[in-house]
Amino acid sequence: MPSPATDPPRQSPGGVGAPNTGFDSRAHALIGSFSQAVKILNTSTSLASVLEDLARISRSVLNARYGAVAVMDTDGEIAQFVTAGLDDAEIAAIGDPPRGRGLLGAVIISGRPLRSADIASDPRAAGFPDNHPPMTSFLGVPIRSGRRTLGNLYVTDKTTGDEFDDVDEWVATVLADHAALAVERAELSAARDAFLSVAAHELRTPVGALRLAVESAREQAAGHGTPPAVRELLRELEQGIDELSLEVEDLLDVSRLTRGALPVQRSTVDLREVCQAAVDRVRWTFETDRVVTDLPSAPIRGRWDRRRLERAVANLLENALQYSPMDMPVWIGVTVSRTQATIEVRDQGAGIDPTDQERIWQPFARGTQSHGARRGAGLGLYIVREIVSAHGGRVALTSQPLVGTTVSITLPLRPQDSNED
Ligand SMILES: Nc1ncnc2c1ncn2[C@@H]1O[C@H](COP(=O)(O)OP(=O)(O)OP(=O)(O)O)[C@@H](O)[C@H]1O
Ligand SMILES: [Mg+2]
Repeated sequence: MPSPATDPPRQSPGGVGAPNTGFDSRAHALIGSFSQAVKILNTSTSLASVLEDLARISRSVLNARYGAVAVMDTDGEIAQFVTAGLDDAEIAAIGDPPRGRGLLGAVIISGRPLRSADIASDPRAAGFPDNHPPMTSFLGVPIRSGRRTLGNLYVTDKTTGDEFDDVDEWVATVLADHAALAVERAELSAARDAFLSVAAHELRTPVGALRLAVESAREQAAGHGTPPAVRELLRELEQGIDELSLEVEDLLDVSRLTRGALPVQRSTVDLREVCQAAVDRVRWTFETDRVVTDLPSAPIRGRWDRRRLERAVANLLENALQYSPMDMPVWIGVTVSRTQATIEVRDQGAGIDPTDQERIWQPFARGTQSHGARRGAGLGLYIVREIVSAHGGRVALTSQPLVGTTVSITLPLRPQDSNED
């Protein structure tokens, strides 16, 4: 059976015998504003923005003077009420948000769409509080996800007719379905961000303690007749822990980014040293000598965040090593002009599908071709881009299937607008 949300209204929207041309022009306008609305809802990232967008969009798509979205708590009471069409003074004059009686409550209790031509004379209505602007026509639909009712969408005062009709009810229901998906997405992403920041934060302390313990073991093992194999093991352990703490820093940066831009801690840095440190790191973790460097002989000094830039370059090198054949070299070079320095990392791997080349910079996005390769979180390039833009720089990618990929980082030599600590 078709779902009521996608099933078009049975009655002719323009009324029985209405000329087709009337419907066509309405349908045309509706499709335009509706697809805009869905686009906006699909890009709403937080619960607050989904609710605000939905209230605002519903007003314009349904030609209503007022729009509102109620979010319910687990006891079925209204926990949040977001309105559109009322200014701050009007909202303040009305006072407390509605408690969900009357027509609002009737939608909540029945879990079904409800329409009224005139709120004041409707027997189900509970009357307006003092200072409430007069409202006549009413349409309310539940926002549902599976069996769970997330809230309700309401519009009042149709501006292009006396009352809301079948088409309006159908449009409101489909909008509510899209909003339910957006609410679920926002809830998931909030849960993921919370998990990330807790995980990164909680990992930091034990990793720090491990690091101190290994440092102290290495000091004690030095010069006391400790077998060289044990000393080598401790050295490897220390490097492994360093690697782990960098991963934790990456996670912390991602969780910081969900709350705003990344801060940078500048000091005077030679970019060649940053690149060399990143190369040493991946040579060690990948146990490889595939990386070929082409670094200038003169220093390239600027005021940058050494640790973060090193992580950005290491992320690019890791990708190049990971997504190209084991017997192919990976190349890193640095060039400098009067105003900027460019780091380039190049591989001769399978390349990146043109349809993926923008998407992979998003958090948790992986290429369609990376399934066979090592498991990854899809965070590397996102972190690279955020670190670089926090320095006022930019990233670029060129990739050709079967030829290879080049990713570059360009940094201004002197700080411009960027996020300082
Ligand atoms: N040099 C490259 N060659 C081919 N594909 C690449 C290259 N660099 C990145 N990609 C593609 O871009 C995707 C995103 O890269 P990104 O570094 O953000 O995440 P990841 O490598 O999958 O995981 P993570 O870096 O978090 O471990 C990869 O999954 C891969 O499909
Ligand atoms: Mg990666």
